Amino acid sequence: MRTENLFRRSFALAAALSLLCFGTLSVAQEKSAKKSTKEKSLYERLGGTYAIATVVDDFIERLLVNDILNANTAIKEARDRVPKAGLKFRVTSLVCQVTGGPEKYAGRSMKESHKHLNIKEKEWKAMADDFKATLDKFKVPEKEQQELFEIVNSTKNDIVVPTAMQ
Ligand code: HEM
Repeated sequence: MRTENLFRRSFALAAALSLLCFGTLSVAQEKSAKKSTKEKSLYERLGGTYAIATVVDDFIERLLVNDILNANTAIKEARDRVPKAGLKFRVTSLVCQVTGGPEKYAGRSMKESHKHLNIKEKEWKAMADDFKATLDKFKVPEKEQQELFEIVNSTKNDIVVPTAMQ
């Protein structure tokens, strides 16, 4: 009889413990799910479409008068031929899309749209310096700047000609 009681008690304790554990786990999971749904997209943290369009506008204006870029005749030719409003629109919709916004980029791939421009390391650096100057001007926080640079840098292999050919 005593053994049976002990057995019953241990069983009840084990059941209560497992309930408690599963209970705690599901509360923790719920909390982390809430946290991740609370984390705003980069698009939202940047301030959405209008803020992104303003940043892109400033950035492209800098690129257009950048002597290092304009010394490259292929870039200069494209800059004179392509309407800057269209370029700003395309770059804005691309940035909005890849940062989590509702816009859909409808332009060409990075490889396709830059392959004729003979973009070398020094021109890539000149572009990155202009981008940094724009982000600083609009006081984009360090974390968001880093995330944007990660996105931009992920396109480098498709845009810059291989080192051996520079
Ligand atoms: C040194 C770096 C870069 C230079 C000099 C540059 C220059 C240009 C030029 C001249 C065009 C027009 C080409 C044409 O239509 O003939 C263009 C198009 C474009 N670029 Fe760049 N670009 C650079 C980097 C980037 C980066 C890092 C991004 C985005 C992450 C980007 C996004 C675009 C987009 C979305 C287009 C429009 C493509 C289309 O109309 O289908 N570019 N770029």
